[in-house]
Amino acid sequence: MKMENLSITEGLSFDDVLVVPAYSEIIPKHVNTRTRLAGHITLNVPVLSAAMDTVTEDALAIALALEGGAGVLHMNLKPEEQARQVGRVKRFLNWIIDRPVTVEQTETVKQAMALMEKHGISGVLVVSQGTLVGILTRRDLRFLDNPEKKVAEVMTSKLITETESVNLESAQAKFNTHRIEKLPVVDGTGKLVGLITVKDMEKHQKFPEAALDKKGRLIVGAAVSPFDYRQRLPLLLENMVDFVVVDTAHGDSKNVITCVADIKKNHGNICVIGGNVATREGARHLIEAGADAVKVGVGPGAICTTRVVAGIGLPQFTAILECSDEADKHDIPVIADGGIKYSGDVTKAVAAGASTVMIGNLFAGLKEAPGQEIIFEGRMFKEFRGMGSIGAIEEGSGDRYQAVKGDVIVPEGIEGRVPYKGELKPFLFQLVSGLKKGMGYCGCKNIDEMRRHRKFVKITAAGLKESHPHDVYITQEAPNYSVRYGGLRL
Ligand code: XMP
Repeated sequence: MKMENLSITEGLSFDDVLVVPAYSEIIPKHVNTRTRLAGHITLNVPVLSAAMDTVTEDALAIALALEGGAGVLHMNLKPEEQARQVGRVKRFLNWIIDRPVTVEQTETVKQAMALMEKHGISGVLVVSQGTLVGILTRRDLRFLDNPEKKVAEVMTSKLITETESVNLESAQAKFNTHRIEKLPVVDGTGKLVGLITVKDMEKHQKFPEAALDKKGRLIVGAAVSPFDYRQRLPLLLENMVDFVVVDTAHGDSKNVITCVADIKKNHGNICVIGGNVATREGARHLIEAGADAVKVGVGPGAICTTRVVAGIGLPQFTAILECSDEADKHDIPVIADGGIKYSGDVTKAVAAGASTVMIGNLFAGLKEAPGQEIIFEGRMFKEFRGMGSIGAIEEGSGDRYQAVKGDVIVPEGIEGRVPYKGELKPFLFQLVSGLKKGMGYCGCKNIDEMRRHRKFVKITAAGLKESHPHDVYITQEAPNYSVRYGGLRL
């Protein structure tokens, strides 16, 4: 090839740019961070947790969804365990439980008690061929003399119920007025169609920003690979997973594209996210295969060595710009996956066109993350490793990197530790507040406006140095800025 035909374009990372501020009438408090994740799924904060075995299992997925984001359960979990964890997230919070546990009124109280014990519930609804006839709670059992009695003899049959048109306010009013703990929902003919519990109502009030599906349950996703999705998918669907992520290091590959197309063809209702890609063409290939969202990022992750091992990749800011430019033509959202070091990087990712960001490193130190806690030189850390690291591949994640079982491992990630950070809630608050501040500086009141702001300046090494604290020893660490990653250390 002649030199004049060779065009080497410029690739920019988050640190190479700043978003240019603009006239604003928006204060950060009034910014709306609601966003589209994929298909019909929306989140209240544009944050996903990475499908990594030191980042996302059920505890972190629950904590994040309660605050408005969503977790993606990693695939080093066996299919049955991954599906079980999805189920745990989905059952953590309900609005109307659509298949409540019931007994027939002709059964014995002993049978009913065994059922309550099995499901860990304090009361059970009583039906006669589907029609609600009573409720049996601990209160009814307090003075029980003979457990062989029929349920009908012991149950409470005077019931407070709701109809299918119930809403949060009307349900709350009934709980308050009648001081009950369970509110059955019946249709026009008296058939039992659901149950609302006071515990769920309290959780809804405590977590007003929670990311919920149409039935008021937390949103959760799970990672699958092109090699195991046929085994995982039925189990995940049975447990009501909201979306699956075909999670690979090279999404612009035949087997990933075929996998996305196959899932969409056979399970059209489930949202499918394809990735990872870093080019316009890669995004288009996944979208043409039917992906509901595209995950972008080849090598930006904190523990990634893909770029240095394989010599390929695209700096993340440029990758997001390119892929979202393509995805916007098809009205498909982009997830910016990897490389987020500060809340300002979330602002930059959204301004470059992403609808959500995916985070590994920043979440790995949280209490809810599954990594081992490590005490080192008197300080607490948590284990954090790449899914392409030797340790993770040995535990099953080789599919993501096309590693063949039995072959010598060529890792694309490292194993390390990150400082312990405490609970997710205050940490996420700082992260999302940084984004809101960024949006306020640009006069953007919602994510769509921020995605269209598109005003950037490229900065130099001097500009980056000026951006961080400089010429000072930090004596008090701020909750949203760590000395370890930037400023001077005493
Ligand atoms: P952060 O920077 O948030 O990035 O920790 C998380 C993302 O990194 C990707 N990932 C890897 N990439 N080798 C890689 O090249 C790895 O071992 C590896 N493990 C995770 C993944 O996309 C994740 O969401």
